[in-house]
Amino acid sequence: MHDNTKEITKLVLSAKAKALKETSHEPEPELTQPIKWPVSCTVGPGLEGAIACETGIGYVNGAKGWLIYRGYNIFDLCAYSTYEEVAYLLLYGSLPTLKRLESFKKKLMQYSHIPNTKRLLMSFPVEQMNPMAALRLGTSLMRQEFTDVEADGYVSETVKMISADEDSIPMETKPMGEKHAIYEFDSKLEREKSIKDSLLHATGYESCHHLIAGVASLAAAIARIRYGHMPLEPNLDLSFAANLLYMINGVVPNPVEERIMDIVLILHADHGMNASTFASMVVASTLSDIYLSVGSGIAALQGPLHGGANEAVINMLKEIGSVKNVKPWLEKALAKKMKIMGFGHRVYKAYDPRARVLAPLAAYLSKNNTEGAKFLKIAKALEKGVAAALSKEKKIFPNVDFYSGIVYSSMGLPPELFTPLFAVSRVAGWTARVEEYLRHNRIFRPRAMYTGTFDKRYRPIEKRKN
Ligand code: CMC
Repeated sequence: MHDNTKEITKLVLSAKAKALKETSHEPEPELTQPIKWPVSCTVGPGLEGAIACETGIGYVNGAKGWLIYRGYNIFDLCAYSTYEEVAYLLLYGSLPTLKRLESFKKKLMQYSHIPNTKRLLMSFPVEQMNPMAALRLGTSLMRQEFTDVEADGYVSETVKMISADEDSIPMETKPMGEKHAIYEFDSKLEREKSIKDSLLHATGYESCHHLIAGVASLAAAIARIRYGHMPLEPNLDLSFAANLLYMINGVVPNPVEERIMDIVLILHADHGMNASTFASMVVASTLSDIYLSVGSGIAALQGPLHGGANEAVINMLKEIGSVKNVKPWLEKALAKKMKIMGFGHRVYKAYDPRARVLAPLAAYLSKNNTEGAKFLKIAKALEKGVAAALSKEKKIFPNVDFYSGIVYSSMGLPPELFTPLFAVSRVAGWTARVEEYLRHNRIFRPRAMYTGTFDKRYRPIEKRKN
């Protein structure tokens, strides 16, 4: 291991030690047991406190500030694991053997080739689009290619056009040697017959692999197109994290950048029933398909109350501009009851463990980055001010988005790419949770309390006064 990457591991382990010193991680009994339906729980606005399903994938202990993926705490995964291993863990439930990991990595590499999707995407004005909108579009295009060839004998115009093109690159299915559509969850017959069987069919997982790898390639392609460059093909010799940075920058990252990107990906891979995961699950629960359900996750993640907060934090730090301005800026923000970006969480009422890891990583990187160092100073002063004003009374602490932007910008990544990078990582959580939920699927369908009126008489339009 590179010496400097050992230093990164030490930073993660000291974040763990600090967390252990400040809090314990006994699980909350009321949130860690099998459900006996119907379940009783107190539900607040925005479905706060609602229990929607059982899961073995991940647990957020909001009271103590601990995050668990499949039994492993997030600090240990960041210290010792890789994103590929974590994605495998989330999808399949256990850490892979060396052989399985190698084959999983090979698959991700094969699926990171998405030439046709990129070609289709480039027929849109990507450089003018919101990157998350472009990412969502790209995800739908990934699906389209396969569903086009899915129906027996039917070949869509798109597919015909691509295959008629002399420069055409072979269909994405070819590297895997498969002649049929990868995504098979949505075959109508299969749906009616046995959802469970079709889900357990390997091709269901193939779509998850395809998405985990393909969304990374898409995000990188979008970044390059925005900056006037051609998208790059993946570099098969690199890890997922290094390849992601390579496909964005066109330069193989150094071991430290690779290690930090890997940790950032691990930290964002899954997080309970957050809004984007729930959005993906709601779409999947209708037996729509996983490409569209991941697309819905991307759409939900974009908002500044969710994943979009990472970009909003950097904009806020720019607006504050200096450490000196933190106090007056914060006073004004509090007086106006503004939400301070990168703070607060629906579940965490303690320090977010992801922020515990990201803060020292931001500090490490900003040692050699003037802009990062400036952001970090402002951020530290803001954290102090928010802690004094809100931590005790409202239990508001920095969340994952507060320091991630400083990490990204210290690595030279532009703000509009922050949320797409969050999405790249979260595809693992979205697909794992969709796959798990569909095993015992029941369509999501809550109710609203009707507070409108009754018994109104229909009046023809010409007789209406206002
Ligand atoms: N700044 C100031 N006050 C806050 C903040 C904040 N960031 N977050 C919550 N509060 C206050 C809020 O004003 C309310 O006070 P009161 O009870 O006096 O009305 C109280 O805390 C509860 O807030 P809430 O809005 O009911 O909390 P919520 O669970 O509905 O919202 C949240 C959670 C994350 C949307 C919210 O904290 C927020 O808007 N934070 C800023 C945006 C942000 O950083 N989002 C990233 C979330 S973490 C990663 C992710 O999911 O992507």
